[in-house]
Amino acid sequence: MNFEELPAILGGTPVRTRPFVVEPMIDENEERLVLAAIREKNFSRYIGSHSPDLEASLRLRSVEAVAIDADWHFLGGPNVRAFGAEFAAYFDVPFAVPVSSATIGLSIALGAAGIAPGDEVILPAISFSATASAILLFNAIPVFVDVDPFNFCLDPAAVEVAITPATKAILPVHLLGNLADMDALLDIAKRYGLMVIEDAAQAPGALWRNAKAGTLGHAGVFSFQQSKNIMTGEGGMIVTRDVEIARRARLILNHGEVAFDDSASAQDLANIIGLNARLPELSAALGRAQLAKLDKVNDWRTRNADILRDELANLPGLAPAPSQRAEDGPARDVPHVFAALFDAITMGISRDRFVAALRAEGVPVGTGYPRTLYENPTFMKQIAYGSGGCPWTSDFYRGKVTYAPGMCPVAENLLRERFIWFYHIAYASTAEDMGDIGRAVRKIAAARHALADAPEAVFAEYAGHSQGRVGVTQPRARSR
Ligand SMILES: Cc1ncc(COP(=O)(O)O)c(C=O)c1O
Repeated sequence: MNFEELPAILGGTPVRTRPFVVEPMIDENEERLVLAAIREKNFSRYIGSHSPDLEASLRLRSVEAVAIDADWHFLGGPNVRAFGAEFAAYFDVPFAVPVSSATIGLSIALGAAGIAPGDEVILPAISFSATASAILLFNAIPVFVDVDPFNFCLDPAAVEVAITPATKAILPVHLLGNLADMDALLDIAKRYGLMVIEDAAQAPGALWRNAKAGTLGHAGVFSFQQSKNIMTGEGGMIVTRDVEIARRARLILNHGEVAFDDSASAQDLANIIGLNARLPELSAALGRAQLAKLDKVNDWRTRNADILRDELANLPGLAPAPSQRAEDGPARDVPHVFAALFDAITMGISRDRFVAALRAEGVPVGTGYPRTLYENPTFMKQIAYGSGGCPWTSDFYRGKVTYAPGMCPVAENLLRERFIWFYHIAYASTAEDMGDIGRAVRKIAAARHALADAPEAVFAEYAGHSQGRVGVTQPRARSR
């Protein structure tokens, strides 16, 4: 083995010392819209009170809400309402309701759909923690089921098995920009009378039979947090075709209790418990400019993903995850993070060693979420509200749910042994960057026997599941 081929983790020269740059795609539009809001001293134009026209405005389509002739309004100021209208137009839905994050957006969508204490909501075992915690906000019970081994989203067969008399909703997550099998899930929902709330945080613009992910169920939710395809720092959007869901979402997010007078019914007041989940005007201004370049950003990630797919072809023990775009099926994914699947037996070394060696080459990669959602202590111990086990122990919940390792073997296997996630397909990574990643991966795969023989201590510095996260770790320079 010559010096170039020696892995950096064993003292060789790293493939890459320059950090990868992942950042929002910004141009003069962001500056123009944000600056205008600042000059207008417009940070929030929400005003909350009961008014005679409130009920009518709660039902306005997003495009109509823009035309409201008032500087201050329950539905927000000019940028918030314009962002909603522009989002609704892009996603081809009547209602798009801006919120302060996807986490609270998911909760609000569930609350607006009438989810009540003790209702079971079925979701995949793999997602960001927010998908599960959003369900707890209204004291509903998350029921985790296994994922499809090819698209990593809800396995419809597992969903059907998990349905009980307490089930009220299905919450598919379009993970990594892939689409869950919406034909099968919508069919199940119809047969059992269930609501479908889509978590499309990672898939804005992905298509299922020409409809955009997030617009197929009763409601869908998007995230604008800094790692997402649209970035406003923090923020989110609820989309729906259902006027009642839109109306109730607008009330829940705007501490809607102030909007009712004494005639309010129990039905009106349910789940409207005093939240402020508004998106600020400045974030909405950013979001409008970001939305306008969503196609460009998605194309950027797709182009990089396609290059990386070629770079990682024909390796022993590591294969790019299947691409929905390449198949002749109903789904057209938009890559959010690029996943590859590792096989330790064929590679001849553990995933931990492979990943550590790759990081030492200057290529930050992750291994997915640290565990399945149900393996998080909140669920294993069933403790959320107070320390007495609410909502699982509440009288409202008549069912019985268990959370235990081994429950979802496909999800556990993907997270414990198989996933390697490449975050750097995002803007502003280049084709050259993809080439460096490919070279590093091939170098480490070629050196696998040397790495198998190396002492464990060598790998410690680069261990951990999250070192590939955007913005968390830049490659550390080796000191030798
Ligand atoms: C699948 C998924 N759902 C929900 C969220 C929560 O989004 P937010 O950070 O906007 O609350 C995220 C990301 O952060 C996510 O990736």
